[in-house]
Amino acid sequence: MAKVTIDASLGKSVINKNIYGHFSEHLGRCIYEGLYVGEGSSIKNVNGMRVDVVEALKNIMVPVLRWPGGCFADEYHWKDGVGPKDKRKKIINTNWGGVVEDNSFGTHEFLELCSQLGCEPYICANVGSGTVSEMADWIEYLNSPEGSPMGDWRAANGRKEPWNVKFIGVGNENWGCGGSMRPEYYADEYRRYQTFAKNHGGKRLFKIACGPNGADYEWTDKLMSSAGRMMDGLALHHYTLTGPWDNKGSATSFTEEQYYKTIKAGRVMQDLIQKHTAIMQRHDLDHKVSLVVDEWGTWHDVEPGTPGSFLYQQNTIRDAMLAALTLNIFNQESAYVSMANIAQIANVLQSMVLTDGEKMVLTPTYHVFDLYKEHQGATLLDAAYDEGDANGAPELSVSASMSDSSRIHATFANLSYSKVLQVECEIQHRNFREAQAKILTGNPADFNDFDHPNTVSIAKFDVEAKDGVLRFELPPASVAAISVL
Ligand code: AHR
Repeated sequence: MAKVTIDASLGKSVINKNIYGHFSEHLGRCIYEGLYVGEGSSIKNVNGMRVDVVEALKNIMVPVLRWPGGCFADEYHWKDGVGPKDKRKKIINTNWGGVVEDNSFGTHEFLELCSQLGCEPYICANVGSGTVSEMADWIEYLNSPEGSPMGDWRAANGRKEPWNVKFIGVGNENWGCGGSMRPEYYADEYRRYQTFAKNHGGKRLFKIACGPNGADYEWTDKLMSSAGRMMDGLALHHYTLTGPWDNKGSATSFTEEQYYKTIKAGRVMQDLIQKHTAIMQRHDLDHKVSLVVDEWGTWHDVEPGTPGSFLYQQNTIRDAMLAALTLNIFNQESAYVSMANIAQIANVLQSMVLTDGEKMVLTPTYHVFDLYKEHQGATLLDAAYDEGDANGAPELSVSASMSDSSRIHATFANLSYSKVLQVECEIQHRNFREAQAKILTGNPADFNDFDHPNTVSIAKFDVEAKDGVLRFELPPASVAAISVL
């Protein structure tokens, strides 16, 4: 029997809704086909954005979307992607398969997508192969009213009002694909670039520096020491792999041992957050800089028969469990984590949706984001429990929050491969009348494909709610979301 105690009187940090953020890159079929098909497509679209995907994503309340990369960001020259489409320059996407990028999806299209989704844009500027003035011009184009050179150019290209983009990334993975820089060098580059990342129209930017690769604590230390006072966010990247880079393993065919390896590797996220934020706080006593985990998720071998450089992978209940565990960790660490962006939103790595021409399926990970959406903007509550041990991985993962309307929302993941968990959850300081519950479960390797789109889906879940205690049985590999009124 697993015992959980939620204290409704002990509100902790506010869970920034942007923790439930997403990432879209010009990579494989993420942008082209996954999100954007163009106005002339036979696939139903509004201003080029596919209607089925936008509707599905609106349901999970995407709060923020990062673009244009990823590694692509550090070779992207934004001026190639504005103005009449037939005049836009074609380039080669050297990071992702050498395909021709026709720049038909550029700044205006990205911001149109954000407007259709109702989310905030997060734009990553090119530091690796761009220039300071190129980035400064982009910010002026995005945010300056008419009357400035870039504001006037934007208006001539069809958009009179500035977009007031708040989140600006200053480079991506500058320790790797963004320029192979040393932390000292990037720190100086960051200082220079951020100087010219100006506020326009009285709106303050939220500047995000390229942060560490996983457990590279030296990067965080050196950068914070030199430039910490000039940033609002520091971006951590951490992917969950089940094997070495050259043999990560199949997304859909894995053993019980490999399942636990994935979950155990996912658990590392909490350690990374705690260690990096401890270093950050040494340099930032007033806690002005937050951690932004702007790339995370599982990375498996690509689906057989698909290009290696397109990073197209299937998505099973195992991925859903990793997502549930990670989102519970982000909730628990929400005093320090202000944003996170799972990689990537469509057809790349741990996606929300997969498409094949006009067909679309929702992944198990999508359903986890659906079950967790009530945590967005809610106040984290104290939840005490023993996470147990399943082959070195945690067995149980929980987080609970309270919304403005005093509704309590708790998410429970039974991470065990084959063990049923009986759970008794006491909710202190709250007399509740009713509990509503939903569950996502299946065999760990279950997934949705275009012929079987509903193998994995959310179902109603029965819980007993009596005398301030919830009692329920969590099947193996399951995620339950329970709301208490
Ligand atoms: O998400 C795929 C790639 O992973 C991104 O382009 C890069 O930033 C990271 O290494």
